[in-house]
Amino acid sequence: MGDNSVRTLQEKIRGLLYKRNAILLAHNYQLPEVQDVADLCGDSLELSIKASETDAEVIVFCGVHFMAETASILCPDKKILLPVSSAGCPMADMITAEQLREKKREMPDAVVISYVNTTAEVKAESDLCCTSANAIHVANSVDKALPILMTPDKNLARYTKKHTDRKISYWDGYCVYHNSLTVERVKKVKKAYPNAVFLAHPECRPEVLELAEEAMSTSGMIAYAADSDQREFIIGTETGILHPLSKANPDKHFIPADPNMICTDMKKTGLKEALLALENLEPEVKVPEEIRVKAKNAVDRMLAVRVR
Ligand code: 13P
Ligand code: SF4
Repeated sequence: MGDNSVRTLQEKIRGLLYKRNAILLAHNYQLPEVQDVADLCGDSLELSIKASETDAEVIVFCGVHFMAETASILCPDKKILLPVSSAGCPMADMITAEQLREKKREMPDAVVISYVNTTAEVKAESDLCCTSANAIHVANSVDKALPILMTPDKNLARYTKKHTDRKISYWDGYCVYHNSLTVERVKKVKKAYPNAVFLAHPECRPEVLELAEEAMSTSGMIAYAADSDQREFIIGTETGILHPLSKANPDKHFIPADPNMICTDMKKTGLKEALLALENLEPEVKVPEEIRVKAKNAVDRMLAVRVR
């Protein structure tokens, strides 16, 4: 797509957003041109908070299905559009509500903390939600005497376990992209850039996180790079993050730990799809009321946890 057609589509989107009293939220992994037209780009936590606070009647969610569902859980009266309905999160599909119910029967005392990367049905079976930005704080909010079950990401759970004194067991799920980043690969990139700071997402394997100076959410990385005096950073997460990192820090150099870490679902939404969704006010994501009310309890309990 040429620069002109990008700009034309962006202008059409901005015009329709205004006309429809809508906002467009984009995750930090979205295509650059989609991030650039958004009212807010952010990590999962920031986007959930923004969805819960907006006065807009329509939210165009440029991200994946669980994010649009979270917005629907928080804002039942708004129209939540997910421009490409097949944009999902393979990790969220690694646990079903029925599987979680079965696990809860095995662990009746456990407090269930589910990553926001889960379906609304799984959230409805959970006590609390968490994101990569607040998992440690959420775990610390649970009574020390109680066992915790974290789903579905084993890597986020092991990271949380390491940084808290809680009794944490976990589901065997993982992000195919983050889990594919290897120690060998990171060591090779570190050797090529010996002065670079390595920032990794907690969805990476524990042995990869061992090599990182810091583990943090996608927006955590943007804030960290902006505050740091360092000039070079190796980035251990999905490559879409390189756009907001470079945009916010034009004088700094960001090296992907692995350029193949590309989440295909996060790349499904282009400007054309976003525009079409706004024109037709579909595809809509709406969580059924019975599930929504239970899931909202877990999301609200997460949002009540103070992070900073
Ligand atoms: P963040 O919450 O850090 O944005 O991550 C979401 C995600 O899907 C990571 O793969
Ligand atoms: Fe899911 Fe991984 Fe894609 Fe994030 S990067 S949406 S966890 S598959």
